[in-house]
Amino acid sequence: MDPMNAKPRLLITRKLPEAVETRATRDYDAVPNPDDVQIGADDLVGRCEGMDAVMCCSSEKFDASTIARLPESLKMVATYSVGYDHIDLDAARARGLVVSNTPGVLTDATADVTMLCILGAARQAHEAASVLRAGRWARWEATAMLGVDLRGKRLGILGMGRIGQTVARRAKAFDMEIHYHNRSRLPADRELGAAYHESPEAMLPEIDILSLNCPLSPETHHFLDDRRIGLLKDGAIVVNTSRGPHVDDTALIAALRSGKVRAAGLDVFEGEPQIDPAYLDLPNAFLLPHIGSATVETRNAMGFKCLDNLDAWFSGKEPPDRLA
Ligand code: DGY
Repeated sequence: MDPMNAKPRLLITRKLPEAVETRATRDYDAVPNPDDVQIGADDLVGRCEGMDAVMCCSSEKFDASTIARLPESLKMVATYSVGYDHIDLDAARARGLVVSNTPGVLTDATADVTMLCILGAARQAHEAASVLRAGRWARWEATAMLGVDLRGKRLGILGMGRIGQTVARRAKAFDMEIHYHNRSRLPADRELGAAYHESPEAMLPEIDILSLNCPLSPETHHFLDDRRIGLLKDGAIVVNTSRGPHVDDTALIAALRSGKVRAAGLDVFEGEPQIDPAYLDLPNAFLLPHIGSATVETRNAMGFKCLDNLDAWFSGKEPPDRLA
């Protein structure tokens, strides 16, 4: 920290909501990115020069080689996200870099978008909206754009953390039957009557709709591949609002084309914002551009949580959401 300047120097890598930037610039010697210019890896290292901390998003990758090149001055990375697969925590620990994230505050918003994806896929929302907007809605038809009811359907949730549990509560209000797989079984009072499966392989043949709500890790990379799609019931629905690389796109696209998978609701994609263009031609794919946490309230709360963690660290306390 500059001894002549009591405020820590804070790089903010992306344009953030006004209320967040106002608080950040009040309490830090903040360097925002008002034009939201995309910062590449080399540029990121350069921009961190002389900084005490950085508030980043999942768009900035702090892999081992980037962390190794960070300037000495940089003490903390507060990511404006609950997911932290863009940060190599082992490398951060080895370098003595403090890392925090934003758990809790985006649970409801992300669970809401999961329900939107479930409904969008189950009710052929993309096809229906496209017909209307293209001026092709000629008349009401008893047999066109038919979806499936949610009532009585079995929803299989992979990853029963905060977001998975909140999706389960919402889905119960739609009279769905909840199944789940998680690394460890939840205590009975948090299971909400959901059926636990010891392995994903045990759950997949039992469910009508699969919702991916787990964090990305080497174990879950391309979790949904040809083999696991083969275990699903014919005509199952697939929803992903967690991280794109959970899905092998080639396998899912083939299954959407063949009807093995009836429909998909996807908010996240491997390589986003570049997505496999084959998705765009599929009428049974309900696609959103990673908007799980995109509400005014949630995006403010995420920023305030980053700042709470930074405030704690720079006032000599333990950041409440410290990951490294
Ligand atoms: C998160 O917080 O992880 C969201 O996916 C935004 O990156």
